[in-house]
Amino acid sequence: MRRKVIAGNWKMHNDLKQSEVLINSLKNLLKDKSINCDVIVCPPFTSLTEASKLISGSIIKLGAQNMHFEDKGAFTGEISSSMLKSTGCEFVILGHSERRTIFKENDIIINAKIKKAIEYGLKPILCIGETLEQREKEVTKDIVKQQVEIGLEGISAEQMKNIIIAYEPVWAIGTGKTATPEQAQEVHQFIRSLIETKYSKSVSESLVIQYGGSVKPENANELLSQKDIDGALVGGACLNADSFYGIIKES
Ligand code: PGA
Repeated sequence: MRRKVIAGNWKMHNDLKQSEVLINSLKNLLKDKSINCDVIVCPPFTSLTEASKLISGSIIKLGAQNMHFEDKGAFTGEISSSMLKSTGCEFVILGHSERRTIFKENDIIINAKIKKAIEYGLKPILCIGETLEQREKEVTKDIVKQQVEIGLEGISAEQMKNIIIAYEPVWAIGTGKTATPEQAQEVHQFIRSLIETKYSKSVSESLVIQYGGSVKPENANELLSQKDIDGALVGGACLNADSFYGIIKES
């Protein structure tokens, strides 16, 4: 049985004080409750160190939203994997569709980031997913296949134990439109079959595949009850402790 993983991607929201308030509220909601999933928060870089202190002793784990693929150097404005490690980060979101579209990251760059994250002991959450245009052209599976194949190029079966994949249809991110549970399940099952072909049945069976795209407390249950949906990567709804907790409760 795979344990579900609910991660909150704060994106470019919350300064230090606001981050403190949000984490403390979440901690209070989770206190003394029996929670059946792993919970990750991914605040902006500037809040990571403080967040790491605040979550200590709680069930909450820490992730970042991006990193550079080089160890260090003249890359003004970038953050390295060792910098993330030094804040207490355990996870890092890589290949989010906003990074792909706004910041022009391609599968090759994302693959380099995945490798670097693993080298430094960070656990990548690899985001993949098709645009609306690609879905309408019925090339969703081709796109997802390419993102999985190039994104995971050179990654061993052993290293797959520390990777999460998040399927996020781009048309469902921040739009209020969610894939139906059936649409999501179909792609999740396809991703798992790709992993089985590339690695083995046991690697594919233990891989956590999250769904992302307008997940909220009201739709979490039907999405999370699908066989191949092992959690959620949550944007908008994680900025409020009550609604993030509402999703966690459904796991
Ligand atoms: P959303 O974002 O929940 O606001 O759609 C999800 C994401 O971008 O990871």
